[in-house]
Amino acid sequence: MGQNSMKAPLLRVYMTLFNSVVAVLPFRWPQCYEGVGSTALLLQHIVQAEHQRVLLVTDNQLVQLGLVAPIQSELQRLGAVVEIYDAVLPDPDIAQIEAGVAHAQRLNAEAILAVGGGSVIDAAKVIGARCKSTKSVQAMAGMFKVWRGMLPLFVLPTTAGTGSETTIAAVVSEPELQRKFAIMDLHLMPTATALDPELMIGLPPAVTAATGMDALTHAIESYLSRNAFADTREKSLEATRLIAMYLERAYQDGTDLEARAGLAKASHLAGQAFTKAGVGYVHAIAHQLGARYHLPHGLANAMVMPYVLADALRESAQQLAQLARAAGLASTESNAQSSEGDIALAMRFIEKIRLMNESFGIPSKVSALQEKDVPAIATAARAEARFTYAVPKYWSQAEAEQVVRQLLPVNAAEIT
Ligand SMILES: [Fe+2]
Repeated sequence: MGQNSMKAPLLRVYMTLFNSVVAVLPFRWPQCYEGVGSTALLLQHIVQAEHQRVLLVTDNQLVQLGLVAPIQSELQRLGAVVEIYDAVLPDPDIAQIEAGVAHAQRLNAEAILAVGGGSVIDAAKVIGARCKSTKSVQAMAGMFKVWRGMLPLFVLPTTAGTGSETTIAAVVSEPELQRKFAIMDLHLMPTATALDPELMIGLPPAVTAATGMDALTHAIESYLSRNAFADTREKSLEATRLIAMYLERAYQDGTDLEARAGLAKASHLAGQAFTKAGVGYVHAIAHQLGARYHLPHGLANAMVMPYVLADALRESAQQLAQLARAAGLASTESNAQSSEGDIALAMRFIEKIRLMNESFGIPSKVSALQEKDVPAIATAARAEARFTYAVPKYWSQAEAEQVVRQLLPVNAAEIT
């Protein structure tokens, strides 16, 4: 007996209580500037808010690409003192965060500007929180433990996926333990952001696809969540519509500014949707695959998603059919309210995701996955979902293993 034996009805009661807490939480979404030229508006905002000393947190690749220098000079031209911390790597660890904290303290930074993807934005959040507190990064793990707030954080996302510019979460890696942990706190909400499509045109097609599929996972899982709200449902549907319309376009032509802007907006809306409604088993499994086999987060989600959705087909047919309609997949069935109509549309939606993966060159199996790892991955995914995600149905260990097993490379699956 113990936590593992916690029955689904009790979990449901807990998650319903959780939902009523979320309903009254005072979310303050960041001020959001949009479109070509919005970077300049964000930089003006920083200076007008009288933040004179700014730590610009980014990664070295973006510096090498020449993306960061113009932002730094423009902010300096507006009168701010700006120093760059560019040692953030994918899946940032505590050492990278502490080095950023030391830099911020030397500068006596009054604000942080994050320029980058999810890893950079998450690292910037934790650097900002650590600058206000002597608490260790590990001690902030979990929910509502960032008591002393965060330095004002401004964000220029360079990918359209995590939505981290509008979420209260940051993920930190502990590579030596092969795991990641999340810090979730209202204090981690950025102050303002600019969704500038021009910052995303250099993103390679594979990264465009993987990050876009991450945003799609946020939209779908938040929509299927039993803790979805009217506003999150609307945002999930709109994000799904935009991704269905623009992801393949941006993948084909990275300089398509309309497509880039649409995806940035989608990622932002999906970020707000899952901040309130949560995600689900796709993320729970993908986190395990990321930690064990170093699969990038978006890629792992994209691979896991068709299997988890197919498993939820019965429970979630109506919601999946709504998502299919948002994605423009409904034709004659669009008005059919029968369950057959919904199931047909839901299946078409899952098939659309499979086809998108295929067109992006995203494999359907995890080559590094081994049968001996399946039980532990299933256990960890179930543990992550328990008390965290209001999934359509809670899995038994056997059900979880059965879904994970479908990701085994073909030969391994044949052996089992
Ligand atoms: Fe995600």
